[in-house]
Amino acid sequence: MSAPASAPIPIGILGGSGYVAGEALRLLATHPGFAVRAVVSTSRAGEPVAAAFPHLAAAYPELRFGPAEALAELFATAPRAALLSAAPHGASAGAVAAALAAAAAAGCELAVADLSADFRFADPAAWSAVYGRPHPAPELLPTFARGVPEHLPASAHSRFAHPGCFATAFLLALVPLVGAGRIAPEIAATAITGSTGSGRQPSAATHHPERRSTVVAYAPLAHRHEPEVVAFVREATGVEIDLALVPQSGPQARGIYATLHARLARPASAAAVAAELAAAYAASPFVTVATAPPRLVDVAGSNRAALGVAVRGDRLALFAAIDNLAKGAAGGGLQWLNRRFGFPENAGLAVPGPGWF
Ligand SMILES: NC(=O)c1ccc[n+]([C@@H]2O[C@H](COP(=O)([O-])OP(=O)(O)OC[C@H]3O[C@@H](n4cnc5c(N)ncnc54)[C@H](OP(=O)(O)O)[C@@H]3O)[C@@H](O)[C@H]2O)c1
Repeated sequence: MSAPASAPIPIGILGGSGYVAGEALRLLATHPGFAVRAVVSTSRAGEPVAAAFPHLAAAYPELRFGPAEALAELFATAPRAALLSAAPHGASAGAVAAALAAAAAAGCELAVADLSADFRFADPAAWSAVYGRPHPAPELLPTFARGVPEHLPASAHSRFAHPGCFATAFLLALVPLVGAGRIAPEIAATAITGSTGSGRQPSAATHHPERRSTVVAYAPLAHRHEPEVVAFVREATGVEIDLALVPQSGPQARGIYATLHARLARPASAAAVAAELAAAYAASPFVTVATAPPRLVDVAGSNRAALGVAVRGDRLALFAAIDNLAKGAAGGGLQWLNRRFGFPENAGLAVPGPGWF
């Protein structure tokens, strides 16, 4: 499925007026190979996209949100197309299933990147154990590849379940080291997430005065992404890790700053561990590794992931900084779709972050 430069691939977006959809639209505004043709909204169909995202008005002066039927119209006119789902978990699977059926009926070959939690577990029972209800489309689970693009370079799939933003940060730091037997499987993690991680719907806990000047842990050792990370690591490495995750809400709007603690299985310097990680990501345009902690502000607003390593004796501290909306969601999903359609891995994703904002 490689695309001639002259024929943009039409792309649709689910979850249209949410934060991740807005980030996808921002990244797609300068993408050389995809053309946004449908932005599905359950609440704002008919309204200009710029009404929800005024910062994108110049990029999309005419584009309007559409109902789900807008996707069928897109599929009817295209032999192949792409779909990014930024719908909530629980709702995404049904909407993606309907889109796949509509594409098949129209004879359109559809590639999907799902950014929700709906296709992240291979086993529907594992999904049900976390979300407390039957999986909405269990028959589709085997058709999805699961992981970050860096860890599945040869995937032949056309449907991708991108890990969540916490999981993306953890997996980038952990998978090469766990897979190589470099660290023991007991891992403790804290991660400070920004307020956009909670989505667009305000709540008391995400209200600006409550959040702006503080940091607070939430769902300690009980967060829904903990089993997700364990499952992703198992699938990527065959190793069962024992993860203790304590997420924290921070005052920043964008970005996740993760710190992981583990023990080295055999002695190594920080430079040696960093070199192993750097070798694992030698082909990645996005992942960098250092023997110093990264800074969140250096990756926020970009698709970059900055990893850091510190060692004392057999103790290892790993740091991972990413942007939750970009690398942790819309950017990671676009990476998958770039690859699927034969575009450069960093097409639409090369823009650096603002550095301060
Ligand atoms: N925020 C992050 O940092 C982040 C990171 C990784 C993954 N994710 C995942 O990405 C997805 C979007 O996250 P978000 O932060 O953008 O959330 P959000 O701001 O709440 O946006 C989700 C959007 O989905 C639409 N929606 C609501 N109910 C729906 C339904 N029943 N069916 C279809 N669409 C519905 C709504 O837009 P309309 O009213 O326009 O339809 C809503 O604004 C979620 O699954 C989330 O878990 C988020």
